[in-house]
Amino acid sequence: MLIDTHAHLVDRQFAKDLGAVLDRAQENGVAVIINVGYDLKSSFDAVILAQKYDFIYTAVGIHPHDATRVPEDYLNKLKELCRHTRVVAIGEIGLDYYRNLSPRPIQQRVFREQLALARELNLPVIIHDREAHQEVIEILSKDKPSQAGGVIHCFSGDREMALACMNMGFYLSFAGPITFSKVNQVHEVVVQVPLEKILIETDAPYLAPQGRRGKRNEPAYVRFVGEKIALLKNIPFTKVAAVTTANAKNLFKISS
Ligand code: NI
Repeated sequence: MLIDTHAHLVDRQFAKDLGAVLDRAQENGVAVIINVGYDLKSSFDAVILAQKYDFIYTAVGIHPHDATRVPEDYLNKLKELCRHTRVVAIGEIGLDYYRNLSPRPIQQRVFREQLALARELNLPVIIHDREAHQEVIEILSKDKPSQAGGVIHCFSGDREMALACMNMGFYLSFAGPITFSKVNQVHEVVVQVPLEKILIETDAPYLAPQGRRGKRNEPAYVRFVGEKIALLKNIPFTKVAAVTTANAKNLFKISS
């Protein structure tokens, strides 16, 4: 059994064949999917989807790309969505200094406001950090994440960053890019981080694994991430599956 802790199932790339995608996920041992919002619309749609499928849970939040477009009352709207029992986290939130689709001060404000919301509701956070490692660490250490903790999604930092995140109680989540051959830094991090702090994800439809690069990613492929971790750590795949599943259930408080 595997948990894909980060997918975007309401993306239009899944509009035509979501049923088949979910069937393939289940055939490949994916027992739970955390479907992650990135703006108000996708967060709302994600809540609807989770009410339809009992193995799909939801995170709601504003991605840094969309930070500049939020309406003034977006925090109240997110808070309303969080009343639904299928909402298990605030995400994805954070900073993206690679594409800079929103001005940095606005990214920072919207990130911090959502961290405060997570604290208020005692929900874990799912964090997007792209080329903003220093600033993400600074904000997290100043603002203090919620007691419920969180995860750095698609972790791309170095060993020092991994340690800093773990010291703040965060899990590190790994995605398709670890299956590529020339990513030595992240491979070292996978080896050094205890399995008890690791989650696995696809970020579907993005970040397809080796062999499928450039194509649409889907939750069934999360097993390739688990297999790569098993290989790098030289442990059985079944152990990776069992421990990362327990980690995800612990973070998102999922009992099924
Ligand atoms: Ni994502």
